Amino acid sequence: MFADKDISKFNNIETPFYYYDTDLLQKTLRTCADAAAPYQFHIHYALKANFNSVLLNQIKEIGFGADCVSAGEVRRAVEVGFDHKKIVFAGVGKSDKEINEALDLDIFCFNVESIQELEVLNELAGKKGKTAQVAIRINPNVDAHTHHNITTGLDENKFGINSWDLPECAETLKASPNLKFIGIHFHIGSQITNLDVYKNLCVRVNEFAAWFEDKGFSLKVLNVGGGLGIDYYNPDHQIPDFESYFKIFNEFLTVKPGQEVHFELGRALVGQSASLITRVLYIKNGKKKNFVVLDAGMTELMRPALYQAYHKIENLSQSRATGSKSEIVKYDIVGPICESTDCFGKEVEQPESFRGDIFAIRSAGAYGEVMASKYNLRDAIRSVYSYEI
Ligand code: LLP
Repeated sequence: MFADKDISKFNNIETPFYYYDTDLLQKTLRTCADAAAPYQFHIHYALKANFNSVLLNQIKEIGFGADCVSAGEVRRAVEVGFDHKKIVFAGVGKSDKEINEALDLDIFCFNVESIQELEVLNELAGKKGKTAQVAIRINPNVDAHTHHNITTGLDENKFGINSWDLPECAETLKASPNLKFIGIHFHIGSQITNLDVYKNLCVRVNEFAAWFEDKGFSLKVLNVGGGLGIDYYNPDHQIPDFESYFKIFNEFLTVKPGQEVHFELGRALVGQSASLITRVLYIKNGKKKNFVVLDAGMTELMRPALYQAYHKIENLSQSRATGSKSEIVKYDIVGPICESTDCFGKEVEQPESFRGDIFAIRSAGAYGEVMASKYNLRDAIRSVYSYEI
């Protein structure tokens, strides 16, 4: 929800830009930390959702660790001041260079996704005279009931080690003197809104933990990944239900004394804290369609083009200026890029709109700014923070 004073300030700023509400981010982080505290759950923030340093500083201050998927993210986390003992490093294709860099930075844990990666990590750690802590990422074959492009925990997905490879994995771990096996890791998908999915995950985690313990391994870490969704349809219901989410893991996960439960949350922490603010360049009224052409496109926010993702779109200028009296028109709301998928929404009802109107594309804090591209040699997207204006 934007106040009139925000909207008049937006009018004076060059568009497009991401507008970050740092107060809302703070509230979201606090709510999550408070909900996790009674269970002593460990939270790692998934940098892939947004690695903007202003946000990272706030997240680090709350005491969360970092979940990284490239050496660049590990480096960014260390630069911002995340404790290296709270950094985990996942990814199905870590290069030797990236592994070496993470070994040098003495991170907490490598989340390993294949048997061959275990062998490479053992060798590279040995060359440095180091012992690398590892968790095995297991593909639990649990359906996340989310968009198929962001489902990661099914047999057909490339992520993690499949259950039928676990006996060989256990042998490799035993034969790897430079690895310390500390736990098991899962991540079944993103934008999960049906919390029952997590009950199914817990059941599978319990089975895999028992399997390893049967084989004589002791597990210090159960890392259940992230994936908690946000409400894109109601961006003003801004804070996800962290309490119910953590409660499920407390109820359904078997945690042995001394074991730690780790989470890797991205979207749920940062998703609602930003909107993409953009201006109408042109209105094109056709026979079949009416178009609003914005000065932001798929180069600034790729999710609608890539996943047909829904983001609520608001004409801030007209909704304030004329209230409910204005005429409602159905528009295809598009960007300036020479691609037909460069469309934020089709047949979207809006008050009649005009050149120069300011639009907000909501819930753009996660996988927005970080997925922006230079396609068409567009200017790099800028960021504006609520404390600045
Ligand atoms: N842990 C691992 C191993 C992951 O792969 C991911 C996300 C996360 C944690 C954090 O998931 P989250 O809590 O944010 O759902 N670009 C897509 C989302 C890709 C998610 C990739 N992995 C989108 O815009 O919807």
